[in-house]
Amino acid sequence: MARVVFRSILLGLAAVLALGVPFNLGDAGDVDGETRSQGYIGAQACAECHRDRFEAFRRTAHHLTSRFPDPESIPGSFSPDHAVVRTRNPNLRFEITDEEDGFYQTAIIGKGDGSYRRTERIDIVTGSGKIGQTYLFWQGDRLFQLPISYFTQQQRWINSPGYPDGEVNFTRGVVPRCLECHATYFETDSYASNAYEKEHFVLGVSCERCHGPGAEHAAYQRAHPDVEDVPHILHPGRLDPPRLIDLCAQCHSGVGAPSQRPFSFRPGESLSDYLELDAHEELNRIGVHSTNQLPRLTKSKCFQQSSAMTCITCHNPHALERGNLALFSRRCATCHETHACGMAAELGETMQSNCIDCHMPRKKDLETGFETAENFQFPTMRDHFIAIYPEISRRLAPRFPHSEKTTPPQEGDY
Ligand code: HEC
Ligand code: HEC
Ligand code: HEC
Ligand code: HEC
Ligand code: HEC
Ligand code: HEC
Ligand code: HEC
Repeated sequence: MARVVFRSILLGLAAVLALGVPFNLGDAGDVDGETRSQGYIGAQACAECHRDRFEAFRRTAHHLTSRFPDPESIPGSFSPDHAVVRTRNPNLRFEITDEEDGFYQTAIIGKGDGSYRRTERIDIVTGSGKIGQTYLFWQGDRLFQLPISYFTQQQRWINSPGYPDGEVNFTRGVVPRCLECHATYFETDSYASNAYEKEHFVLGVSCERCHGPGAEHAAYQRAHPDVEDVPHILHPGRLDPPRLIDLCAQCHSGVGAPSQRPFSFRPGESLSDYLELDAHEELNRIGVHSTNQLPRLTKSKCFQQSSAMTCITCHNPHALERGNLALFSRRCATCHETHACGMAAELGETMQSNCIDCHMPRKKDLETGFETAENFQFPTMRDHFIAIYPEISRRLAPRFPHSEKTTPPQEGDY
């Protein structure tokens, strides 16, 4: 679909105000609605007419991947025992505090009266918390990363990835490529800058990131309740497979090298006009922020030898399906008979509900290290290179008995 030109955000704004919901786009008063708003109205505005979809979608990692801080969006404990990060430098510690007017991180160097303190407020939370969260703060119109993150696997506050233990750093700017993957829209001019239009952004990877800005669609459907055509919004299911994959690949195929203005790519367009993806051979690794899913998937025979496999062959973008391995295995079954598996005769019936652990094993992401005073901690993720992993399979096979109840594979099995 060609990029749609949106006339006005005012109708969408009116819809949001009528619903009485918070408006992440900020106060549009000083904004030139034509060019700056780009016609975004926020996910909640879609709920007016797509209620069920919105209710399911709001629980997804996409929707939750950037938010304003509140007790619900931050899973970490604020009890004084837990909300301290001690470092191998005996004179440096960090405290995370829940104050009346917000959540804060403080670096404390030295002890007692002579100590030096630097405190910054958590203004934006990034990460749904599946793996963890990193926090951002504003300084004027510039956005920076905070030194302490949260690591869900161990339920602890921890040095942010890439932050050496024992050092203090409040100067890492948050550049647009980061927000392009973790938000729907920010207004900014250059990939090199961390300055943004502070009153004007849409948090979360929300509906409009995959469907395009929705103001014109909402206004049109409201004005034409009896018309059946839907001219102003993209249905990605009707895209050619490569364009549909591009839609997901802008965020799931590594950082790449952008060639146009930040946030200018629109769903339906050819991603290569906007972003040169990293060479796939360099991405032959597992990493939350490097390899990611597409390059690994494209190495798989499933992808290479079937005609139209895309990310939505297995993923429903509107629902939280994480952990439901039986459901994912049924999606394998659209192309494979269970008995085609070379281990079917040996394995019990339980294999039908778990093709995933043997053929898409969990692996450690060795690129995203959180350094602690003692060691490094790494998250794990699924390998999208769907293949035969004989060693892992041999280890896991006893977990698939023919009769008695079975325990699903655990973290330590890999
Ligand atoms: C005022 C009501 C209204 C609002 C608000 C609204 N929609 Fe729709 N939308 C409709 C109607 C009516 C249809 C056509 C019937 C259907 O598919 O549900 C539709 C269809 C769609 C379709 C399918 C398009 C197609 O070609 O089949 C998509 C995608 C969509 N809407 C996305 C959104 C998104 C994203 C938002 C929020 C940014 C949104 N809608 C807000 C009324 C609305
Ligand atoms: C604008 C960037 C962006 C786009 C576009 C995008 N994603 Fe994501 N996706 C993310 C981010 C960021 C996360 C991690 C969210 C988190 O946990 O904080 C994620 C997480 C996921 C997850 C893991 C969910 C979970 O609960 O574990 C799946 C699956 C996924 N995306 C599939 C897709 C598919 C399929 C598409 C295309 C239809 C797509 N994504 C498009 C950024 C994006
Ligand atoms: C190229 C896209 C991309 C860029 C750039 C990017 N991320 Fe991510 N990030 C992702 C995806 C995709 C995931 C989820 C991977 C998964 O589900 O396994 C993720 C995961 C995360 C998580 C863990 C979320 C969870 O599941 O709990 C955090 C926190 C995070 N990113 C923060 C950041 C920050 C902060 C920046 C910039 C300084 C950044 N990311 C840059 C795509 C990106
Ligand atoms: C990560 C990308 C992504 C996000 C976010 C997303 N969608 Fe979709 N949406 C898709 C894709 C892909 C399809 C096509 C699915 C298919 O054809 O199987 C689709 C299809 C649709 C359709 C029409 C097809 C149908 O099943 O009726 C509607 C309506 C829709 N989305 C609304 C929404 C709304 C409303 C939101 C937010 C609450 C939303 N979408 C968020 C990717 C996304
Ligand atoms: C769209 C169809 C399709 C889907 C969905 C699909 N595959 Fe495949 N897969 C294929 C094709 C085609 C081949 C190559 C021919 C063959 O070996 O059957 C293949 C090959 C394989 C192989 C052999 C790999 C090798 O290197 O020899 C395994 C294992 C496999 N698939 C497992 C899975 C699993 C597990 C899932 C679900 C997560 C899945 N497939 C989903 C089409 C698909
Ligand atoms: C306990 C681990 C394990 C489980 C569970 C498992 N597989 Fe396999 N699978 C293997 C191994 C190992 C092979 C290679 C066997 C061989 O070559 O003798 C294999 C081979 C395959 C092949 C390739 C067959 C060929 O001839 O190229 C396919 C397709 C496949 N499995 C699909 C599945 C599907 C679908 C499921 C879920 C219903 C599944 N597997 C569950 C371990 C497993
Ligand atoms: C053949 C099926 C299949 C295809 C195709 C597929 N995935 Fe997945 N994906 C899975 C399964 C299975 C999981 C594991 C789900 C779980 O553990 O709950 C997964 C997990 C994920 C996760 C979470 C990462 C993690 O480590 O937990 C992300 C992000 C993701 N997929 C994105 C994508 C994207 C983007 C594409 C397209 C490039 C894609 N997937 C294509 C089956 C698939």
